[in-house]
Amino acid sequence: MSDIDIIKKEIEEQILNADNLKALDDVRVNALGKKGRITELLKTLGSLPIEERIEFGKKINAVKAELELKLTSQKEVLETKQLNEKLKKEIIDVSLPCRPETQGRIHPVSKVYEEVVAIFAEMGFEVADGPEIEDQFHNFNALNTPPNHPARQMQDTFYVNNDVSKEFDMDSAYVVRTQTSSVQIRTMEKKQPPIRIIAPGRTYRSDYDATHTPMFHQVEGLVIDKKTTMADLKGCLYDFMKEFFEVDDLKVRFRPSYFPFTEPSAEMDIGCLKNKTELKIGAGTDWLEVLGCGMVHPNVLKACNIDPEEYQGFAFGVGLDRLAMLKYGIPDLRTFFESDVRWIKNYGFAPLDISSMTIGLSGNGGLTR
Ligand code: DAH
Repeated sequence: MSDIDIIKKEIEEQILNADNLKALDDVRVNALGKKGRITELLKTLGSLPIEERIEFGKKINAVKAELELKLTSQKEVLETKQLNEKLKKEIIDVSLPCRPETQGRIHPVSKVYEEVVAIFAEMGFEVADGPEIEDQFHNFNALNTPPNHPARQMQDTFYVNNDVSKEFDMDSAYVVRTQTSSVQIRTMEKKQPPIRIIAPGRTYRSDYDATHTPMFHQVEGLVIDKKTTMADLKGCLYDFMKEFFEVDDLKVRFRPSYFPFTEPSAEMDIGCLKNKTELKIGAGTDWLEVLGCGMVHPNVLKACNIDPEEYQGFAFGVGLDRLAMLKYGIPDLRTFFESDVRWIKNYGFAPLDISSMTIGLSGNGGLTR
């Protein structure tokens, strides 16, 4: 075997033994690179006699071409091997869920808030807002609440000293609003009738037991127009309760009541079945008080510079937390605000559970808890 055949055989072996692309490239450089063994042989051509030069030149070039071919095919083998290894390592099971199950839950109060807004939005109401730290004019005076009214007592109302440089003065002190009714006044000061708003938000009173917490939530409603009657009030609230509790033949009744800011005033009850172990809305012969309402008192309209001879309207106030307790069977209000993860996992709602009048209020697509 000639030298060139031995070199060729050695290089061919090296090609086959190269088990990665880097090793294969080293083989190529050592054979065909500037100082490679084949290149070095080519350089010796000049020193050979002419006849041998032609013969040897042809031979070296043939060997070179053959080695190049082998290098290319081994490169393809190694590239395929490398790709397969990569694919195996980066394997993705497309049948697995793409995200872990969501951990967070929507609080029942937020859920009920969304439901109430969805129902009234459908009836053409806007959502209005007002401050939680309020002056007594908006929280009491403009709502026709006399100076000595029991609701103003410190046992019920949290007063805020708004000027710390002075002694606390009950008459000029601010309050954390005791009712969202203050938003009625704020709205009528800003806006001319017709008015159709609801005002959901936080309210505060000095009270604490299974159905009362110092902070709780209310939704206020206010409709002012030229011809608004008690019949409109009853129809609107009946529709709301039916939609909210998702009971078609819900029984309701209105009982006479008293609120300083409405005349006449009423309380609304819904029909239910009540016994020691269960509470079922819409069934049975019992009644459950759910809301206060009435025709807006002329003094309230006057306090907002609206002429009671020309305009009239109705208002209502309902406890959001109470609605949540009744609809979702939650027995103790205090647990709403204890931030217990086990509680929210039990009573909370799936984050994508949107409340809408078209896809459903509480039971859309099986996404609810
Ligand atoms: N503000 C009353 C409360 O907190 C609820 C209420 C009753 C609001 C009658 C009203 C209404 O707008 O007309 O107890």
